[in-house]
Amino acid sequence: MMQEQITQYTTEINTFHPDSAAELEAFRIRFLGTKGLIKDLFDQFKTVSPEEKRTLGKTLNEFKQLAETKYQSLKEQLETQPEKTALKDDLTLPGEGFQLGSRHPLSLVRNEIIDIFKRLGFIIAEGPEIEDDWHNFSALNFPEEHPARDMQDTFFISKKSPADSGEAAGDIALRTHTSSVQVRMMEAGKPPFRAIMPGRVYRNEAISARAHCFFHQVEGLYVDENVSFADLKQTLYHFVLELYGEGTKVRFRPSYFPFTEPSAEMDVSCSICKGAGCQMCKYSGWVEILGCGMVDPNVLENCGIDPEKYTGFAFGMGIERITNLKYQIRDLRLFSENDIRFLKQFQTEIS
Ligand code: PHE
Repeated sequence: MMQEQITQYTTEINTFHPDSAAELEAFRIRFLGTKGLIKDLFDQFKTVSPEEKRTLGKTLNEFKQLAETKYQSLKEQLETQPEKTALKDDLTLPGEGFQLGSRHPLSLVRNEIIDIFKRLGFIIAEGPEIEDDWHNFSALNFPEEHPARDMQDTFFISKKSPADSGEAAGDIALRTHTSSVQVRMMEAGKPPFRAIMPGRVYRNEAISARAHCFFHQVEGLYVDENVSFADLKQTLYHFVLELYGEGTKVRFRPSYFPFTEPSAEMDVSCSICKGAGCQMCKYSGWVEILGCGMVDPNVLENCGIDPEKYTGFAFGMGIERITNLKYQIRDLRLFSENDIRFLKQFQTEIS
C-alpha cells in the first residue's frame, strides 16, 4: 500500500516543472509541509510490521531525499531567473515582436522574369557554376586563343597543362554566363528546346558602383524547326510589355556575340522618364537590357543538332540591371552588402 503510494509520488515529483514561484510553494506544502504527504507517510510507517519496516524504511528515506533535493534545485533555478518567472506570471505584458523577413530584390525580379517566360511555355534549366572551357567557350563558338574570350574577363580555376589531352585539357573556370547551361541542355536532349537559365555568373572585374565580380543572369533558348528572328523579336517584345507595362517601346541594335548570328542588343524606352531623358538613361531615353540573336549554326553542330533542320534564338540579360531600372538603384554593391536598411525596403509577402 505504502510502496504503491511512494511509486506514484515519485513519478509526480520527477515530472514536476513549475512555471512560477507560487507553483513551487504549493509543491513544498504538498510534500514537505508540516501536514504534508511525507509527514503522513512517516506516520503510516510507525504502524507497519517489523519485517516490512526493513525494506520500506530505506525507500521512504530515499523518497524524502528526492522531494527535498528537487525542491532545493527548483528554488535555486527560479531565484537565478527571477525576470523570466516574473514575465511568465504577468500576463498583461505585451508579446514579443515578430519580424517578418523579405525577399531580396534580385529574387523578386528573377521570379518575375521566370513567371513571364513560364507563361510562354519556357521551362527552367540549371547547370554548374564551375564550368569547363568547352561548355563556357568552345562549344559556343569562341575560337581557341581568340580575343573574343577576353570579352568576358574570366576567373580561371585551373590552367591547361601541356600533358593533358582530349576533354580533360579544358581549363576549369567560374562560368562567365549561363549560356553554358544552353550547351549542356542541347547536348543532353533533342529539339525542340524552350528554356530559360537563371543563375549566378562571375567576371574578373574590380568591384565598384557599376561593376561586380559576380552578378545574376537569365538567359533563354528556343530551338525548333522554322524558328526565325521574327519569333525572337515577338517573344522579347511580349516579355518587355509584361515586365514594364503597355506602351514600353523596344529597339534592336546590331551587335556581336560569337554564339549568335545575326546578333543584336535590345533597348527599352526608359521606364523612369518614359523617354524624356534622365540620369538613368543618360538622357538618351533608351536603356539596354539584353543581348540576343539567332543561334550560330556552329553552336548547334557542336551540340549534335542538325543546323539544316533546326534554327533557334537565344538571349541573355543581367538581373541586376533590370532591378536597378525598376527600383532606381544606382550602386550594385548594395545587392551583396546585406544591409538590412536596404533589404527591408522590398517588403513583400513571403509566399
Ligand atoms: N551570353 C551573353 C552574355 O553573357 C548574353 C547573350 C546570350 C547574348 C544569348 C546573345 C544570346 O553577355
